Amino acid sequence: MVTYVSAETAPLRNTGSIRLYGPEGFAGMHRAGRLVAECLDALVDIVRPGLATQAIDDFVRDFANDHGALPATLNYRGYTKYTCTSINHVVCHGIPNEKPLREGDIVNIDVTLIVDGWHGDASRMYGVGPVKRAAERLVDVTYESLLRGIGAVRPGNTTGDIGAAIQTYVEGERCSVVQDFCGHGLGQLFHDAPNILHYGRPGTGVELRPGMIFTIEPMVNLGRPHVKVLSDGWTAVTRDRSLSAQFEHSVGVTDTGCEIFTLSPKGLDKPPIIAA
Ligand code: MF3
Ligand code: CO
Ligand code: CO
Repeated sequence: MVTYVSAETAPLRNTGSIRLYGPEGFAGMHRAGRLVAECLDALVDIVRPGLATQAIDDFVRDFANDHGALPATLNYRGYTKYTCTSINHVVCHGIPNEKPLREGDIVNIDVTLIVDGWHGDASRMYGVGPVKRAAERLVDVTYESLLRGIGAVRPGNTTGDIGAAIQTYVEGERCSVVQDFCGHGLGQLFHDAPNILHYGRPGTGVELRPGMIFTIEPMVNLGRPHVKVLSDGWTAVTRDRSLSAQFEHSVGVTDTGCEIFTLSPKGLDKPPIIAA
């Protein structure tokens, strides 16, 4: 049985109940989400061949410090970086390191910043110089799948409607949806109820109600959906080493549909392929 609680009176931990936020919560999420979007916007001018993903992490560290934000991933379950940087066949949770990006890579950069206690969580794909057509198509399909998922967010729909919208579209494009990771409730917590699966059947799961806040963050593979986690305990890769892509927005359910907290002020939600 699913229960819904007012975020104002609920304890600040994941109890499994679904928290419903009011106008202050939405205002806080807009501030946090916008800052994440601005950080991801700024990275469009930073990402290039030869750059180490550690330099991306350093940039996000400085950006967070300069804007009075805290990085949610630092020290999260032992994670020691400000971002996740997931290249090519890395599905998610790639750990920034000193290896340089190469022309033709596609890289997901995932940033979660805490502003006045509110968590903004978003990620985008960046093309490093010209990329192969197959890679570009995967990025396009993944972004479109996120939009389709967001399009299913309205009161009375269910989490299963979101997953079904994503899965139906992705599989129709002969790609596959990763099932081992999901979107999540967030707000004053980083990972909260409910789980947002990126696959499923219409009408199943949890009913969406105004005031709910969560992420949608589909991971889409060119090949099979199966993943494995490397011995570092974080890096998830496709088992068949096929390319993988991901986009993420933080959204809130309104009376009529949804608001996206992490929209790019510059319209760079899907960045252009960066010239080498
Ligand atoms: N930002 C990721 C998400 O979308 C979570 C990263 S947790 C980390 O939920 F520890 F790997 F950074
Ligand atoms: Co997330
Ligand atoms: Co994220």
